[in-house]
Amino acid sequence: MSFYHKAGKIPHKRHTQFRKPDGELYAEELVSTEGFSSVYSLVYHTHPPTIVKKLGEPFDVQPRIAREKHLKHTSLLGFNISPEDDYLQSRKPVLVNDDLHIVLAAPKKSMTEYFFKNSQADEMIFIHKGSGVLKSGFGDLKFSYGDYLMIPRGTIYQISFDSEDNRLFIVESFSPLRIPKKYLNPAGQLMEHSPYCERDIRVPENLQTKDEYGDFKILIKKQGLIYPYIYGTHPFDYIGWDGYHYPWALSIHDFEPITGRLHQPPPVHQTFEGHNFVVCSFVPRKFDYHPLSIPAPYNHSNIDSDEVLYYVDGDFMSRKSVVKGQITLHPGGIPHGPQPGTVEKSIGKEATDELAVMIDPFRPLKITEEALKIEDENYFKSWQG
Ligand SMILES: [Fe+2]
Repeated sequence: MSFYHKAGKIPHKRHTQFRKPDGELYAEELVSTEGFSSVYSLVYHTHPPTIVKKLGEPFDVQPRIAREKHLKHTSLLGFNISPEDDYLQSRKPVLVNDDLHIVLAAPKKSMTEYFFKNSQADEMIFIHKGSGVLKSGFGDLKFSYGDYLMIPRGTIYQISFDSEDNRLFIVESFSPLRIPKKYLNPAGQLMEHSPYCERDIRVPENLQTKDEYGDFKILIKKQGLIYPYIYGTHPFDYIGWDGYHYPWALSIHDFEPITGRLHQPPPVHQTFEGHNFVVCSFVPRKFDYHPLSIPAPYNHSNIDSDEVLYYVDGDFMSRKSVVKGQITLHPGGIPHGPQPGTVEKSIGKEATDELAVMIDPFRPLKITEEALKIEDENYFKSWQG
């Protein structure tokens, strides 16, 4: 995160005696994603976070790769992923490489039986459908349609959904997923040219300390396996915390588009960055206002990266028919561009209501078996007219 936040009770000095009303010490923990080299928080537990009672057998959730190498424009119908009761079982990796996994999920039930901790990846959960609360020791983050939930690795969480109709577009990032450096000044503040600012960022609220003993199941993901751990105390037992490391939310509806007289390139839509990939938001906006401008994008040959678009809502200007939840993957190495007719059609239009999330990975994506189940096999021919 880019700014300091604190909640609950913390001692005046770090690493000093901080006691409960009965005189016992609270347990301090430093949480971070890059050791002691970058952002971190200090959290204060009612009980040490180390009281393991039982270990279960790990189970494998690694994606099964169907196409390791390919050079074909590919489309997936994301809403054809079947809803499943359980949150973790509902998560289906579809496009993956060593930097990130792109995952679709349609969970029906709230997480009540267990907590989840991703120890190998930061998570970005884009809420396409549904609403609810992301609960963690840091507090509650309410979410609804259009929110990006940003969860740093190591965060133990539970999601409570308001209904059974949920559609999530998830990125697991094996490097810290952060606000692009180009938007930040040396002090870490979002600059004037950034398409969003601190006021748009929501932080956890309503910290409630769960001082409870019992059997608390935490499913911990590491290296493609999930390890069931039973801890003896409730993981949300923070009495307070402070720092820069915590889950947060940004709504795509608060992303302010940057427009110009002529077509603006994709970097103006950039929203987040990880190692070897970027995330961009395409949001409703006024079109280019040069009298001879062509609002539709030019053909481009993205030699350096694959390009993934996830369609959320509205009509997409460069394609004739897209459906909600559809993914297109344009692999690096061959050009792609507007479909026939869409360039002429875009001329004179004043605005677009398109809403989409784009991910550009700089290393090729592999296609999983789950992806093949929802593939539109004829997509590569869709420029024939
Ligand atoms: Fe493109």
